[in-house]
Amino acid sequence: MGSRDKLILFDTTLRDGEQSPGASMTRDEKVRIAKALERMRVDVIEAGFPIASAGDFEAVGAVARAVRESIVCGLARAVDRDIDRAGEALKDAERARIHTFIATSPIHMKMKLRMAPEQVLEQAVRSVRRARRYTDDVEFSPEDAGRSEIDFLCRVLEAVIEAGARTVNIPDTVGYNLPKQFGALVRTLIERVPNADRAVFSVHCHNDLGLAVANSLSAVLNGARQVECTINGLGERAGNAALEEIVMAVRTRRDLFPCDVDLDTTQIVPTSRLVSGITGFPIQPNKAIVGANAFAHESGIHQDGVLKSRETYEIMRAQDVGWSMNRLVLGKHSGRNAFRTRLKEIGIEFESEEVLNQAFVRFKELADKKHEIYDDDLQALATEASLAAGNERIQLLYLRVCSETGETPTARLTLQVEDGEHQATASGSGPVDASFKAIEEIVHSGTELLLYSVNNITTGTDSQGEVTVRLGMGGRIVNGQGADTDIVIASAKAYVNALNKMIRPHERTHPQAADV
Ligand code: KIV
Ligand code: ZN
Repeated sequence: MGSRDKLILFDTTLRDGEQSPGASMTRDEKVRIAKALERMRVDVIEAGFPIASAGDFEAVGAVARAVRESIVCGLARAVDRDIDRAGEALKDAERARIHTFIATSPIHMKMKLRMAPEQVLEQAVRSVRRARRYTDDVEFSPEDAGRSEIDFLCRVLEAVIEAGARTVNIPDTVGYNLPKQFGALVRTLIERVPNADRAVFSVHCHNDLGLAVANSLSAVLNGARQVECTINGLGERAGNAALEEIVMAVRTRRDLFPCDVDLDTTQIVPTSRLVSGITGFPIQPNKAIVGANAFAHESGIHQDGVLKSRETYEIMRAQDVGWSMNRLVLGKHSGRNAFRTRLKEIGIEFESEEVLNQAFVRFKELADKKHEIYDDDLQALATEASLAAGNERIQLLYLRVCSETGETPTARLTLQVEDGEHQATASGSGPVDASFKAIEEIVHSGTELLLYSVNNITTGTDSQGEVTVRLGMGGRIVNGQGADTDIVIASAKAYVNALNKMIRPHERTHPQAADV
């Protein structure tokens, strides 16, 4: 890289991304995403918030054990018990980071923390020192820095660097800043904090005004050397800065940025699809870099130009971000070994031989129907197998739908619910509606259907349909997924999956809850 700096990529899909309503992930799903991030050569993976729940603690531990190349990070509020829990969760990591934070804006200190600025400063220093007992790699964030007073911010940053923070992260927690202003904030901090040269300055921008990427890039032009981001821009409310957009902007406009990212960009599209499939957050077709239309040229003039010379309308190459990476890998004659080997190559490892065997049976059924199996099909299979292994309380055993022109569609199905098998028949405006009604005949969940969406996993009419169902109840939102070559069956699976998530116990502390 010569004299150019390195831009550190800190991915928080598994932590801030998971704070998107409905995007919660299981431990195994988190490990699969973490392995994909590691394959992409992301520098730091924020795996979760270990104090949030026993499940979060376990998931951070599992990621710490699975990942060897990237730094694995755990989030902790600036309180002893959070930091100790993070330290414990990360104990098996090859390289561990603790990220501790406390709010520094007048409104957060007064209304949320009910603490005086001097108390906040003291708590910040104390928590960095405590985190250093577990690892040398400690990051500190003054939450809501984008609305904090600059003199106080400088004092806090100087004190935490003195206490041992190696990275200081400047969050625009509520997505309030504009690019010029945010860049100037970062530059001023770097110039005014006396020991700024002893820490990496990082930024963490939210997208409430659609400016998360622009603000992050402006900060990089003004001296930030770590960017916190998520795959597909997933994250709290309107989301975080999208990793793929940051990376490709810095790569494509290398003439303007004084730093480089060390990332295997061909992993961007496969990782984006994996995250979308697991969380059930579809990718809009016109989304930059990873949207289905990002490299499609609709108008005749553009097509003509691109055929003569690609650079007329394309500033990046589709294959550089992994658009051709969905490799045809297996077919109906592939055996168990080929199946296991390819799963391993794309980071899927099942917890037991029994789960692998179930997945192999399902693979053979699928290969009989669609002959050519791609990596994305395998990812969908893995999601299904790990769900089945989780002993879901409701399972779809049988579904038959009748749909005919001029007739009302009907669905007949059998569900396994804890106390045994139940059957129901229902009619609806379409076969999917009829199936959902039949499920509700048995379950009476009281949930509200908030979203229903279908995407094909690969191309062609024999592709598997991947369905997302979002349900809400009492302020809680869950996303369910299902995949099948028959989209009505995929829909019923997705609905059942969402119901299973809804009935799972859900006791979880939110990182931004006041608790110091
Ligand atoms: O947005 C934010 O301020 C955060 C912090 C925990 C870094 O997510
Ligand atoms: Zn955030």
